[in-house]
Amino acid sequence: MSKTIQKNIHYKKYQIGSTLQYFKPHSTKIEKSFADEISFSLNQPSKFINPKFFYDKKGSELFEKICNLSEYYPTRTEISILKKLKVELPQYLDGSFRLVELGSGSSVKTRLILDVLIPLQEKIEYFPIDISEILTESSSLLQRDYYNLFITGIIDTYEGGLEFLKNYDDQKNLIIFLGSSFGNFTPYEGEEFLKKVNSTMKDNDLFLIGLDLVKNKMILENAYDDSQGVTAKFNLNVLSRLNDELDANFNLNNFAHHALYNENDQRIEMYLKSLVSQSVVISKSNISLTLKKNELIHTEHSHKFKLSQIRELMHQTGFNIKNIWLDENNYFALTLVSKNI
Ligand code: AVJ
Repeated sequence: MSKTIQKNIHYKKYQIGSTLQYFKPHSTKIEKSFADEISFSLNQPSKFINPKFFYDKKGSELFEKICNLSEYYPTRTEISILKKLKVELPQYLDGSFRLVELGSGSSVKTRLILDVLIPLQEKIEYFPIDISEILTESSSLLQRDYYNLFITGIIDTYEGGLEFLKNYDDQKNLIIFLGSSFGNFTPYEGEEFLKKVNSTMKDNDLFLIGLDLVKNKMILENAYDDSQGVTAKFNLNVLSRLNDELDANFNLNNFAHHALYNENDQRIEMYLKSLVSQSVVISKSNISLTLKKNELIHTEHSHKFKLSQIRELMHQTGFNIKNIWLDENNYFALTLVSKNI
């Protein structure tokens, strides 16, 4: 296949080795700083903290722990579906594909997809797109086990990375977005995001997305309020992060983890509940907060979907569904789509 690599002048290329390189934008676009975002979101009538701030080093470790909890069914369920794809995905792969992953992901899942692609092609290109530089670490781990793997990391937002890829060359892409991370978007943001993915795809590209399904309320609430309190630690950790990075003085003992399933809006809602009436200073955000007893700080939405809604969402955003794979309990769905042309 002929390659027409266009230099993208907005990114700088870093060559780490003969099979590992990454691209990083010259300037981190007009993005608000952590301190500014927090100053805005905690000054609203309904206070909130964006869930993207959960993932500092400690938060990422706690999330890994969550993934191994018996109550947290999504990870192992999605993995069980990915294992079935070994046999079923190849029929949709006509010729060689580059693997593009939104989020550098848990390597277990990436590996399951690489294992599908590897017998089908001589060499394989893997493009993780992640805002965090963590991808350079996870990449070298992958390369220990896959000798014919060529990795090009893109350190940027998903949208930025996809836009970069759009003009990169004419190789077919299999884009994956796993773990139901899509569930963090509001319905509006989700639709805009899917349209964006669609607009950056070539006619023969494929997109595989993992989505968590609507199910019994108890199962959902236990998954987000586990008996060992790991999810509570994960939620509260964001306050430690504000203490460390923004010179805040949150007393974690004055807050409690609160998670509930909102059936109407089909989403888990996570909050930090103020156990007392208190005031907190966040020096680097230049704010002083007052919190009433029982006041909630919203930290996350995790949307759950019905199969009919997945079909509708895909059609509305310009996709053609190739297949939807489910686990035996219908807890989780992996949906493979192409551009509707
Ligand atoms: C990473 C967004 C998919 O919503 O299930 C897990 C994050 N929060 N437990 C999810 C999370 C609390 C997770 N996602």
